[in-house]
Amino acid sequence: MSLTATDIHVKLGRKEILHGIDFAARAGEVTAIVGPNGSGKTTLLRAITGELAYTGKVQINGQDCASMKPHELAMTRAVLPQAANLAFPFTVLEVVRLGLTAGLASSRPDTSDTLPLQALARVGLTGFEGRYFHDLSGGEKQRVQLARVLVQIWEPVLDGQPRWLFLDEPVSALDIGHQLVVMQLAQDYARAGGGVVAVMHDLNLTAMFADQITLIDAGSVRAHGTPQQVLTNDTLSAAYHCKLQVNTPPPMGGAWILPQAAHLN
Ligand SMILES: Nc1ncnc2c1ncn2[C@@H]1O[C@H](COP(=O)(O)OP(=O)(O)OP(=O)(O)O)[C@@H](O)[C@H]1O
Ligand SMILES: [Mg+2]
Repeated sequence: MSLTATDIHVKLGRKEILHGIDFAARAGEVTAIVGPNGSGKTTLLRAITGELAYTGKVQINGQDCASMKPHELAMTRAVLPQAANLAFPFTVLEVVRLGLTAGLASSRPDTSDTLPLQALARVGLTGFEGRYFHDLSGGEKQRVQLARVLVQIWEPVLDGQPRWLFLDEPVSALDIGHQLVVMQLAQDYARAGGGVVAVMHDLNLTAMFADQITLIDAGSVRAHGTPQQVLTNDTLSAAYHCKLQVNTPPPMGGAWILPQAAHLN
């Protein structure tokens, strides 16, 4: 089971932002979307998740997303946006419960707090449930939002169908320890049969946790493949307009990217 997006064009205002993107991800894997600021990563994620108008075709588990009802989509995939602020003074538990409500049209009418509390524990926020969301630090807020998203599609596979986590920069506000916790959580979700699509800026974390990488540049796909295929000196240096050196340190064997200079020339 997989996710495919074919020939995706998105126009915002008068400008075409995505110029015919083909993207694919498999359940059981973590697929990372990387690329420079403004290259179209968030736009692609929002098109795939049906939050933006697009032309092209998006299929999830073999079904055309355009024909799926909102509750079917909510049961199949959950989305962590790049920035998620709240207008109301919710407690942490209330925020996480929102995920439960989003997924409630399911066969699992669980309205207890068991799942939200389990999700908070997964992101290292046990004891935070009574705190006001507004009073949390940036990294704590990001992890609460992740707990909310997790609660929505807690089981990675439901009725034999994989469920999909879409994460837009899930570790951007996190310290290195929590970055590892969250990326491990994403990988565990995939290994349990779910699908994970994550927009990432940290290339080293991406090298550690992604099975496949799509590199977006100026609204088009510049490269797609395994970390070894995509994370090369030439591809990265050209996309990011700076000199980058990809190394392979023992004993981990994964790529390890070191910046060399601020500008290419
Ligand atoms: N509503 C809009 N109207 C016009 N242009 C927009 C709009 N929203 C986004 N854009 C432009 O679309 C381009 C892609 O934006 P997008 O948010 O997808 O980038 P990104 O790759 O996620 O970048 P970042 O790494 O900074 O999050 C940017 O140049 C942005 O300025
Ligand atoms: Mg973005």
